[in-house]
Amino acid sequence: MLKTLLITGGAGFIGSHVVRLFVNKYPNYKIINLDALTYAGNLENLKDIDQKSNYVFEKGDITDENYIFDLFKKYDFDGVIHLAAESHVDRSISNPLEFLKTNIFGTVTLLNAAKEIWKDHFDNKRFYHVSTDEVYGSLDNGGFFTETTAYDPKSPYSASKAGSDHFVRAYANTYNLPIVISNCSNNYGPNQFPEKLIPLFINNIQNNKPLPVYGKGENIRDWLYVVDHARAIDDVYHKGKTGETYNIGGFNEWKNIDLIKVICKTMDEKLGREAGTSEKLITYVTDRAGHDLRYAIDATKITKDLGWKPSLQFEEGISKTIDWYLENEEWLKNVTSGAYQEYYDEMYDKRD
Ligand code: NAD
Ligand code: DAU
Repeated sequence: MLKTLLITGGAGFIGSHVVRLFVNKYPNYKIINLDALTYAGNLENLKDIDQKSNYVFEKGDITDENYIFDLFKKYDFDGVIHLAAESHVDRSISNPLEFLKTNIFGTVTLLNAAKEIWKDHFDNKRFYHVSTDEVYGSLDNGGFFTETTAYDPKSPYSASKAGSDHFVRAYANTYNLPIVISNCSNNYGPNQFPEKLIPLFINNIQNNKPLPVYGKGENIRDWLYVVDHARAIDDVYHKGKTGETYNIGGFNEWKNIDLIKVICKTMDEKLGREAGTSEKLITYVTDRAGHDLRYAIDATKITKDLGWKPSLQFEEGISKTIDWYLENEEWLKNVTSGAYQEYYDEMYDKRD
């Protein structure tokens, strides 16, 4: 039977990997990718699959209530995987309202549409919210985040994601909406916007620009290759229990400065530069306001219950990632110049 699935934020970093996986793996699904194409949305991320017959792109905003209701009526979705969000912590510090609007108002707009349009037939429906480990706050005294760790968000970004998680659970409790949530650690890999640590530093090294390390570089993150996150999302969507939360992580903690040194060393080798060249670009700068010290996920539940585990060792993942950015110079150039934003006009506006 044909299933119609809405994926929001599919032109972004993680969303594009999720869309690709679903379009290729499930030819009997019709995948609707809804994305507003903000600065973070890039249809070039999907150019290898955008002609497939089971893929549809819809340009639209999750905060536009009438539009979202009409979209739900138009397609009669069987399920939603919701990734669209403002995702960068630094931007949330300078513009919290934008995060409140997209991440909370936008999520509630989708929940309302699902609740109303699905109301007499919740059976076999599923609303899946893709969230972050940052909702749990910062692990300053050791330990790991589990699914029962109390929420303690500390940045406007994580507060907005925590707010959206709370609304998703409230709709399950109040209206019986069949939901599932996952909270994942830091992703890395191809297609990530070069404002985030890893692609920013790869790009800066290539262009001999300073590498701005916040504070002393002692903060710790738990890194997961993005395709492994997409695989986990597939497992949670298809095998996760309704109402449950699943933590997703890489079992792969790195102090920022140690990770940065690995990137520098690998870049020197791949670019044929003298050892130590890239490290000279390291520049310690003022710390991020309210900078969370450490994130680390205990992913036992998803491994035990759904059989998921990361497939890629970090050394292999980071090498593959660097290769991808070096081989896709054009992608990086288009993103940094802004040219990527013309892809929609070229591919869609002028197609009809
Ligand atoms: P991203 O910023 O790369 O992509 C976000 C996408 O959402 C973009 O394509 C953008 O155009 C779209 N979007 C933004 N506002 C929209 C709106 N109002 N209407 C429709 N589309 C809109 O983000 P990402 O890093 O791919 O993250 C995707 C999701 O995963 C987010 O919900 C994020 O909180 C979550 N997450 C990210 C990470 C990570 O390490 N990047 C880790 C855990 C969870
Ligand atoms: O933990 C999951 C989260 O990971 C996701 O929910 C977010 O969407 C995603 O952006 C990411 O958040 P971080 O703030 O951890 O990622 P970022 O790449 O911005 O920063 C990683 C670490 O590197 C963090 O400790 C801040 C530091 N940093 C970052 C930048 C951009 C620097 O030292 N210098 C920089 O220039």
